[in-house]
Amino acid sequence: MKKTIPLLILTFICLSISGQKKANPELQADALIRQMTLDEKIGQLNQYSSDWESTGKITAEGDKETQIRQGKVGSMLNVTGVDKTRKLQELAMQSRLHIPMIFGLDVIHGFRTTFPIPLGETASWDLALIEKSARIAATEASAYGVQWTFAPMVDIARDPRWGRVMEGAGEDTYLGSLVAKARVHGFQGNGLGNVDAIMACAKHFAAYGAAIGGRDYNSVDMSLRQLNETYLPPFKAAVEANVATFMNSFNDINGIPATANKYIQRDILKGQWNFKGFVVSDWGSIGEMIAHGYAKDSYDAAMKAINAGSDMDMESRCYRNNLKQLVQDGKVDISVIDEAVKRILVKKFELGLFDDPYRFCNAAREKKQTNNPENRAFAREIGKKSIVLLKNEPLSNGKTLLPLSKQTKTVALIGPLFKATKANHGFWSIAFPDDSTRIISQYQGIKNQLDKSSSIVYAKGCNINDNDKTGFAEAINAAKSADVVIMSLGEAADMSGEAKSKSNLQLPGVQEELLKEIYKTGKPVVLLLNAGRPLIFNWASDNIPSILYTWWLGTEAGNAIADVLFGDYNPAGKLPISFPRTEGQIPIYYNHFNTGRPAKDENDKNYVSAYIDLQNSPKYPFGYGLSYTKFDISNLKLSSDKLSSGNKLTVTVDIANTGNYDGEEVVQLYVRDLVGSVVRPVKELKGFQKLMLKKGETKQLTFTLTPEDLKFFNNEIQYINEAGDYELFVGNSSDASLKANFKLTL
Ligand code: GLC
Repeated sequence: MKKTIPLLILTFICLSISGQKKANPELQADALIRQMTLDEKIGQLNQYSSDWESTGKITAEGDKETQIRQGKVGSMLNVTGVDKTRKLQELAMQSRLHIPMIFGLDVIHGFRTTFPIPLGETASWDLALIEKSARIAATEASAYGVQWTFAPMVDIARDPRWGRVMEGAGEDTYLGSLVAKARVHGFQGNGLGNVDAIMACAKHFAAYGAAIGGRDYNSVDMSLRQLNETYLPPFKAAVEANVATFMNSFNDINGIPATANKYIQRDILKGQWNFKGFVVSDWGSIGEMIAHGYAKDSYDAAMKAINAGSDMDMESRCYRNNLKQLVQDGKVDISVIDEAVKRILVKKFELGLFDDPYRFCNAAREKKQTNNPENRAFAREIGKKSIVLLKNEPLSNGKTLLPLSKQTKTVALIGPLFKATKANHGFWSIAFPDDSTRIISQYQGIKNQLDKSSSIVYAKGCNINDNDKTGFAEAINAAKSADVVIMSLGEAADMSGEAKSKSNLQLPGVQEELLKEIYKTGKPVVLLLNAGRPLIFNWASDNIPSILYTWWLGTEAGNAIADVLFGDYNPAGKLPISFPRTEGQIPIYYNHFNTGRPAKDENDKNYVSAYIDLQNSPKYPFGYGLSYTKFDISNLKLSSDKLSSGNKLTVTVDIANTGNYDGEEVVQLYVRDLVGSVVRPVKELKGFQKLMLKKGETKQLTFTLTPEDLKFFNNEIQYINEAGDYELFVGNSSDASLKANFKLTL
């Protein structure tokens, strides 16, 4: 076939000769689109998974490679490795216009080195660390031929029955928005075009975490005010961080599936927020609108999705099979196709894929990013900083169990998770090789740090989720022979994550029975709880003296846990989500409304908003976490009792480390708007600072508040300030009680 020099290359040459340093991706995309046939345009909107079935049901498919060669596949997901991506890219470059593909993957919390699950990382309240985690993940993934991650998941979640709560930043909009920015900055680094930068993807747009009943993929029904106030801000934060892509969600929102929801995708995202990237559907979600009962067939589904702003079709094939006919039938205007194609091509230009389609296929880089020791060291650091100390009560001798001595003579390690390896990765660690020898088990981590003179007695005790108690006797004997017992209990790693909703959040199987039997031996017990969500463990909370929540901490889990157990690191994690006492309290979250009949206290049941059989409060509140030391927060002062437009309020508070260990604390600032044109939450997080204080040290912290910080969505969905009285709280959890008052004047 006579090879013409495509107009695109001529354009590029001209631009370059004209001395313009950096070609304009928009112009380049426009020039290319002018050359493309309708088939080629539709090809760019089509994304296939590899046949490595890891994140969804693979549709039985014809010859993908031929379609790639014909320019009918704009992107692939679930392909990793320099060799595999190069091979597929070479096929794409045989297409008439030599348009490269983008390779995407769920790089959710690490790639070849796995970090704590995102909910666990958020418990560090350390935005720099969270950004670095994403940065390292991007560096590793881009060395393996990946230039697009389907992360960060920024869905606010107030319902721990929902398995994907593990994947986000918890219940709070303010914290979730800051974490969204940190993760986008981490993945995209110094900007697309850098070979270690990958496109981030804000997902799942939108309100996916509000699934009714906490049941994954279920409907979402809420006021537009609530949607804008609570669920959309983290997505807006991602746009402000220049996120390259969005992924829509499986759920319907007030009866309209997100995939065809013009309000969120066109009016808000591409309209109000002026988002210039592109939107990929979630896996098959376009075709799923037939099951939703929103589209009568794939032709109808494709029409509704593309017209509503869904640019790329992940794995449903609705676009591939219907868009040409839709255009020919006048149901979809070619301008809509061109707009979607342009958004995708611009990103390919920005990634530098037209300059060099194989720039992410560098074997030397891939080798360097395999088992990278610095990345492993970071995994240990962020792992230990994600651990939350829930309890560390003094024993009868007045001493707390934690931190343990490395010279403890005999330590019993009991529980089904001590020798687990891959489980420590939790859900969404699909890029990790099956080489579990690289993962530090909790058993190994403790063994690494115990003194040579100490001995470990191990007993599994029970399985995670069955009724077999035959291991109890061995475990009880192990406990009796030890000076201290450490138990590692919790969920299986695949009990949280996608399609992993649970109605029962208690410890699975017979684990709590085992715990009670070990407790009866009278030996002091430290409990490690591993899960991708808040669990319910009231008996343990009330009876076990020391409890650490260890989430799923990743490749260095064992070492990170041991660092905390033995005091090499003083835990400072804070819960990013409320822990309920029972499933009956769900949804439970700290920033609730007061109602007209608030309960005065936990015992008030007299015609007030309360349960007759339980307190209203969570078992552990949002923002809660202890330390081996003690912190006193005092002397709260405001620069004024008024905050007016264009001004700021300076808030100072003293914090003292009055305990026996150096340690970090997360000092949190909350406000309450006492009267509004709509009811307002009893508390809203508006600031936090994490700091290290040596024992005996005191510091003064300063926060500033502006009227912008106090805006909210009124009933007309306007983002506004309203003058009025505020309360301000500072403390180390959402139970903060140190209070001051100020008036907002406009
Ligand atoms: C899954 C998930 C989504 C993921 C995508 C690709 O179904 O919902 O979060 O990015 O498919 O694996």
